Amino acid sequence: MLTNRVKGVEYAIREIAAVAHEVAKSGKKVYHLNIGDPVAYDFPTPEFISEALFKASREGKNNYVNSLGVIELREEIGRILSEKQNLNIGIDDILVTSGVTEGIYFIIAGLIENGKELLIPGPSYPLYINYAKFFDGKPVEYALNEDDDWEPDIEDLRKKITNKTQAILICTPNNPTGVMYGEKKIKEIIDLAGEYDLPILSDEIYDQIVYDKPYVCPASLTKDVPIIGLNGFSKTHLVTGWRLGYLYYHDPENKLDELKNGIAKMARARLSANSVAQFAAVDILKTSSNHTVEMVQKLKERRDYSYNRLRKIEGISCVKPNGAFYLFPKLDLKELGKWKDDKELVVDLLKETGVCTVYGSGFGDYGKGHLRITFLPKVEILEKVYNLIEEHLK
Ligand SMILES: Cc1ncc(COP(=O)(O)O)c(C=O)c1O
Repeated sequence: MLTNRVKGVEYAIREIAAVAHEVAKSGKKVYHLNIGDPVAYDFPTPEFISEALFKASREGKNNYVNSLGVIELREEIGRILSEKQNLNIGIDDILVTSGVTEGIYFIIAGLIENGKELLIPGPSYPLYINYAKFFDGKPVEYALNEDDDWEPDIEDLRKKITNKTQAILICTPNNPTGVMYGEKKIKEIIDLAGEYDLPILSDEIYDQIVYDKPYVCPASLTKDVPIIGLNGFSKTHLVTGWRLGYLYYHDPENKLDELKNGIAKMARARLSANSVAQFAAVDILKTSSNHTVEMVQKLKERRDYSYNRLRKIEGISCVKPNGAFYLFPKLDLKELGKWKDDKELVVDLLKETGVCTVYGSGFGDYGKGHLRITFLPKVEILEKVYNLIEEHLK
């Protein structure tokens, strides 16, 4: 007894973890390069952040709170968006969610039904595909062009807009490619959205994890096209398990009022996001700390090491990531010879060497023939991992 809706849900990142669990049970050491969770590696939650959570709980802030989010937290988020991005976002334009995940769920629930289409990047973070299908809609992937450093292909995007399109989703820095969209391309997408009167959904979870050039906030580039930004505390503040995020509406011409009110209703129906985490988040945002900068410094070395090793492996090519913590190399399956597709290779690599990556086809059609690998582990571990990969693919 199970609905087709639920039968259709797939999440390669976690599914490969189940195979890894079996491999570990057989006594083999597993190297996890499949999950984008820095806290699971050597990036523990900073002490002052854990303290803020204990403090909130000790102070008795353990009850349900405002469904749209604790007001002080929304004020802080608005202040930061105004300071950093020069956006005019008031507390009524912010909704606190249980991670970006819930924000995406809410928005897709509010926009998609009955075969309506959501334009998402291809390759795509699986959540967008899952929720679009879950709500009886159609995820339509526009190409990120690997030959152009994974920049979005604007002509392909234009071709895929139909009278069923409800919104254009962008994700920069991107999961799984690890690359930011260039400012010029973001502007072109904004122009296109304006031309067709479509809102943009902007997944900004990796906005502070960038290496070679500054992050560009899409909403800062337009005074009229509506943009819903999604962000959270998981990665930047090293609290993936707290499940705390938010969305904000940059909607200077109030085109999204109906959607906004509908989503607020959904938020009320689920009572509230985690209360103690919200009060702790107010303290976190008010405290000046270098933990994200330090994390990025450490990650940069790991990115460079991984990229240099990967590009020397025969049968593999890779665009250098400039954000997030993923590499998305392309496999030349003909040259490699032994495996029929990316999934077979990933499962074989895992079973034989213990190296756990994610098959690219788990990120939609454009992901086929690729692997997603995080560079979160320490260089000593990465060295072992790349030795194993290199040896196995020979
Ligand atoms: C692009 C992207 N969006 C959203 C999420 C989920 O974020 P959260 O922990 O805030 O739900 C992830 C997690 O890996 C992600 O990579």
